[in-house]
Amino acid sequence: MLERLGQFLTNKPNAAERPSIPDQNGEIPQHVAIIMDGNGRWAKQRNLPRIAGHRAGMKTVKEIVKAADGIGVKVLTMYAFSTENWKRPRDEVDFLMKLPQEFLSTELEELVERNVRIRMVGSRDRLPDYTLSAMELAESRTKQNTGLKLNFALNYGGRTDIVKAVTELVQLVQAGKLKPEQVDEAVISQHLYTSDIPDPDLLIRTSGEIRLSNFMLWQIAYTELWFTDVLWPDFTIQHFHQAIAEYQGRARRYGGV
Ligand code: IPE
Ligand code: IPE
Ligand code: MG
Repeated sequence: MLERLGQFLTNKPNAAERPSIPDQNGEIPQHVAIIMDGNGRWAKQRNLPRIAGHRAGMKTVKEIVKAADGIGVKVLTMYAFSTENWKRPRDEVDFLMKLPQEFLSTELEELVERNVRIRMVGSRDRLPDYTLSAMELAESRTKQNTGLKLNFALNYGGRTDIVKAVTELVQLVQAGKLKPEQVDEAVISQHLYTSDIPDPDLLIRTSGEIRLSNFMLWQIAYTELWFTDVLWPDFTIQHFHQAIAEYQGRARRYGGV
């Protein structure tokens, strides 16, 4: 009420309209995960082929990696291709599979200099050789780096992730290396693709879809979720900062009081 009155008197935009900036003394989420969505619709709005949207989205990836690093995020996970995305037209899948190579051919050196550590999260099975070798080169070139951990979720599915963990645990039990009663949450976490990555603190999804699309189902149990209608190619550092600022205003209770 008082804020409304103040607004009326000073004609200032209300808090929702003011671009919010993160509090540098506030808590910066350690791990931010992003479902980068809306490339196809961005292209459609411009009468361009869907792949033009993916290329535009790649520019956003570059910007947001720098923004995350700049603000002190420790881990950034980008959902680039889901286990369901194989259903897309062949041409589009082929294009998406070439993007890692294209992205890394121009960005890898700068990422190495920035001390970024690149990792792939997901199943390596079905990826074309050129996609896998581009990712593995980036992993080996950056494996000594100690700065921002940049994970690309590629051919990633949350359910596949859990199936992989269960399969490994069953094999360990069968081999007598693990007792069934030793299986707890920590043991399951250790067998996911994200075994050495902390759970996301903040999950951002662009493009107005309010769903998880099979992303990190186990890991986001207590993640703060932030959705925006902005399409991924239009997503800017300001939007990213807004998400962080709103995260800082949330009370994470983890079931407590
Ligand atoms: C996200 O954009 C990129 C991937 C899923 C690979 P989309 O391609 O899903 O774009 P929309 O949702 O069709 O607009
Ligand atoms: C989720 O986006 C996957 C990625 C961003 C890589 P989709 O566009 O595939 O999700 P749905 O199909 O709308 O749920
Ligand atoms: Mg989509």
